[in-house]
Amino acid sequence: MPEATDPSQEFPQRHAGLANLLVEFNQMKSFMDDPLIIVEGDGVRVRDHTGQWYIDGLSAVAAVQLGHRNQAIIAAMTEQLNKIALALPLYAASEPAIDLARRLVEITPGPLTHVKYASGGSEANEAAFKVARQYHSQTGHPGKYKIISRYRSYHGATMGALAASGGAARKLPYEPFPTGFLKVHPPDCYRCPFGLSYPECDVRCAEIVDDVIQAEGPESVAAFIAEPVSMSTDGFIAPPPEYFKILRDICDRHNVLLIFDEIITGFGRLGELFGADVYNTAPDMMTLGKGLSGGYAPLAALMMTTPIAEAFWGDPTDAVHFNGGHTYAGNPVACAAGLEAISQIVEGRALANGQTQGTRLRTGLEELADRYDQIGRVDGHGLLQGIEFVRDKSARTQFPPARLLCRKVGQTAKANGLIGRMGDHEFVLAPPLTSTSDEIDEMVAILDTSIAESLETFDG
Ligand SMILES: Cc1ncc(COP(=O)(O)O)c(C=O)c1O
Repeated sequence: MPEATDPSQEFPQRHAGLANLLVEFNQMKSFMDDPLIIVEGDGVRVRDHTGQWYIDGLSAVAAVQLGHRNQAIIAAMTEQLNKIALALPLYAASEPAIDLARRLVEITPGPLTHVKYASGGSEANEAAFKVARQYHSQTGHPGKYKIISRYRSYHGATMGALAASGGAARKLPYEPFPTGFLKVHPPDCYRCPFGLSYPECDVRCAEIVDDVIQAEGPESVAAFIAEPVSMSTDGFIAPPPEYFKILRDICDRHNVLLIFDEIITGFGRLGELFGADVYNTAPDMMTLGKGLSGGYAPLAALMMTTPIAEAFWGDPTDAVHFNGGHTYAGNPVACAAGLEAISQIVEGRALANGQTQGTRLRTGLEELADRYDQIGRVDGHGLLQGIEFVRDKSARTQFPPARLLCRKVGQTAKANGLIGRMGDHEFVLAPPLTSTSDEIDEMVAILDTSIAESLETFDG
């Protein structure tokens, strides 16, 4: 047997090519000083190039719902690879793509009956905007083109999806964006943008969408897009229960399509299969990604209702079809992974386990919030839970940019073996639905230790 190499020696020789790489969203100058290079995973854990194991409390990026090195998904992908890897995307459908479309129609709530694939979430949202505009144009309302979304949302990194996204920091370097994208304030009950309190507010944050549509002219508005629960660098926001019902009603009144971006919230992340189930509201379109393939291959989808799909049905000379696509959209190997992932979530124990573990995680985080004055709130659904760090709990004031306790806690947690989503103020956990009780308890315990350690040296 070859002698085991010392993993700590793997860098920099083995990874000299890191100097040639731009890692998503990262400042490479500081990344190079303390690089995280993941070499393998197993269940809820991942190992880096130095040999340290971490709990992946983020399912990679809210995608690996069923854990790393999932043998049944690997087997399904391998079987498909042995048939065909890429099935003439311009001229043909593949069997896994067909089977997955049927499965998605079965499991999504409401009357979503048609599927258009993409290879990533941003692409799926781009397609949703194009479908919305073309649908209105082909049903007698060519003037409807505006897309309304919310500040602090995230819908992707491509130009249209970024135009619909809310965070200034990620957008400013790339402005100007295409016209026709408007924003409203999000439903942040902890720090209401209207200075109101729930429930006396009558959910003003939803009602305001009606005002905006009226002010813009309903004949110019195509769609409203929102994530059921948003998790971006600009905040973690779980709307009040009636928020989406009010929006559904407003959209119906003005012939505006309601799009749910379920790229994070789909496939059991919130304790129900979809955010639409949590909020008991059926959208006209839904975008899916991340957990759709269990995180095993790039795959995303746009789902739509029959009336929308019908607007694209005609003879070739009518030219009413959706005129766009991507080489890897609906890739057969990715769809094979998706079929197996859905079967583990729906027929297997993953959804039920995710519900149980979501409650356990929430309880653990609430206990931390009871003990630490610096935790202002715990929010979320299922296995998407966030805590917000505050300087003053009763005034709900945040730490200034030069003293971000959350960043410090996140770095300490990483050193202690737990990776979560680290914003300026919010630390979010979104572990695999297959996490065990012991693993959830371990996450909360590491977070507890990391907060205590951070506070010892924190000059807040
Ligand atoms: C809610 C939401 N929408 C869209 C996207 C974009 O998806 P992708 O990164 O696959 O393009 C993301 C990615 O994090 C997301 O969280």
